[in-house]
Amino acid sequence: MDLWQDFLTNQGREIHKWEHYFPIYERHFSPWRGRTLTFLEIGVAKGGSLQMWRRYFGPLARVVGIDIDPRCKACEDDGVFVRIGDQSDPAFLASVIAEFGAPDIVLDDGSHQMRHIEASFDFLYPKLTKNGVYMVEDLQCAYWPKFGGSVDDPRTFINIAKSLVDRLNAEHTLGAIEPDDFTRDTYSIGFYDGIVVLEKGQVFRRKAQAIGKAPGLLAAFR
Ligand SMILES: C[S@@+](CC[C@H](N)C(=O)[O-])C[C@H]1O[C@@H](n2cnc3c(N)ncnc32)[C@H](O)[C@@H]1O
Repeated sequence: MDLWQDFLTNQGREIHKWEHYFPIYERHFSPWRGRTLTFLEIGVAKGGSLQMWRRYFGPLARVVGIDIDPRCKACEDDGVFVRIGDQSDPAFLASVIAEFGAPDIVLDDGSHQMRHIEASFDFLYPKLTKNGVYMVEDLQCAYWPKFGGSVDDPRTFINIAKSLVDRLNAEHTLGAIEPDDFTRDTYSIGFYDGIVVLEKGQVFRRKAQAIGKAPGLLAAFR
């Protein structure tokens, strides 16, 4: 069953997601189905999304939820683990990594506060496995003041991600931006309505080639 059907027919705990996220989840998460993976969701609430991820990824998946609300501990299930703490606390995040290892996928659906999203990303992104996926959802909040959002603030996650595009391309900036671990370890940055997703991965060869005939140009070179 695809994720959208699973969501529509959910009889388990409540899941709270925007409908238009489902094709985005499928695009980025479907290659991981049936594989051994550690999936970390920030924000548990009623626990329905953790159950959905476990059904979607299958029996080899370990789904870990973190939430600041101690009641969420009751959402633990077969293959579903919940740890209680603050997503902006590096010591708490370190304890989760120490217990479960590096996550393959992080989905941030937590407080939606810009400073919290930034703190989680700064700590967790470098820890992701080498082809891992980091997705932040509900970034409508990046424009809303009560979540620390605004169009102009450079520390909303939308604006942080925009500046990361330049770090992804640092090799081409003629020395303006020094390539760093982010440049070396990041394959792509995607922007959707309400979602930013980063895929880790390395570009081993940066080499432009011209292969094949260019008939229109040949006469000019003779
Ligand atoms: C949008 S809900 C999660 C919804 C759930 N993922 C789903 O799809 O059904 C957000 C959750 O983030 C939690 N939260 C709020 N602030 C947090 C923080 N600083 N650290 C961790 N979790 C937090 C809230 O307690 C709430 O359960």
